[in-house]
Amino acid sequence: MSDKPKVWVSRPLFADVLDYLARHVEVEVESEESTRTAAQLRQRLAVVDGAILGLSERVGADVLEGNNRLKVIANLGVGFNNLDIDAMTGAGVLATNTPDVLNESVADYAWALMLAAARRVGAAERWLRAGHWAGSAMRFDDWLGVDIHGKTLGVLGMGRIGQAIARRAAGFDMRVLYHNRSRLAADIERDCRANWVEKDTLLSESDHLILVLPFTPANRHAMGAPELARMKPSAVLVNVARGGIVDDVALAAALREKRIGAAALDVFEGEPSVHPDLLALDNVVLSPHIASASEDTRRAMALLAAENLLAALGLGQSAGHPPTPLNPEVMDRW
Ligand code: GLV
Repeated sequence: MSDKPKVWVSRPLFADVLDYLARHVEVEVESEESTRTAAQLRQRLAVVDGAILGLSERVGADVLEGNNRLKVIANLGVGFNNLDIDAMTGAGVLATNTPDVLNESVADYAWALMLAAARRVGAAERWLRAGHWAGSAMRFDDWLGVDIHGKTLGVLGMGRIGQAIARRAAGFDMRVLYHNRSRLAADIERDCRANWVEKDTLLSESDHLILVLPFTPANRHAMGAPELARMKPSAVLVNVARGGIVDDVALAAALREKRIGAAALDVFEGEPSVHPDLLALDNVVLSPHIASASEDTRRAMALLAAENLLAALGLGQSAGHPPTPLNPEVMDRW
């Protein structure tokens, strides 16, 4: 039997990243994605020193109860609302995430969604594939969308991903407004060519509004019926942050009644289920939580998670110094 630490990887991962892990630890990797109950997760985590988990795995006090072995959970994502950090700190388990390596890819994808929703790319493709083009007399004023260039882009939540989204707007000659609890330093505002405004102003003046807030209890339904009511009837709303920040039912009603123009969502309340009211609409682009999913970025995220895991176990090139810990104070108690 190996005396290396044992780690569990809860989903298939890049072979070279697994090889890197296997040089230092005994790795058990699942060959398929699956949803596990808290009891199943507790059982899996009880027999390992560390784990790499995905965003669909929720870790709270119930999952950690009685576990005296586990030292680290490396989350495969920048968001970590699936982890109860207080419970992990209480149990002496380090949590890590994957910030920064995904900023530019998520910003690219937010733009892809905004462009697709504004210019009706998804609906037009569905119509074409259904064979409606041949045999129909398409009118000159069919398929009209709204422009991006020259319009006002709003960013709600101006962290590093929000800033990357804002910087891209210069190429489209857009005015950029943002709202964040704290205002950015003047040099960053200049770099992003973005002006801070109150949330109400952001809602009423944005032609295109992209949400990049972290999910916290306070941000639940930060875009609900009252906020949607403040938006322009032509506005496009994009969510690449987290499900639950938008009230999906209120959004579906606003889209159906054309109180806003279009939306594009990569994240949903209760995902992987998507509310049937959204599925029934043509003026919303829907994708399965893939904003960071470029080859380079997903590999970089996996490598960072592996590096965090190994470092917490005193191994690898950052031994003892996990690059992106969320509750580093637990390491003082080891
Ligand atoms: C994706 O949603 C992430 O948090 O990385």
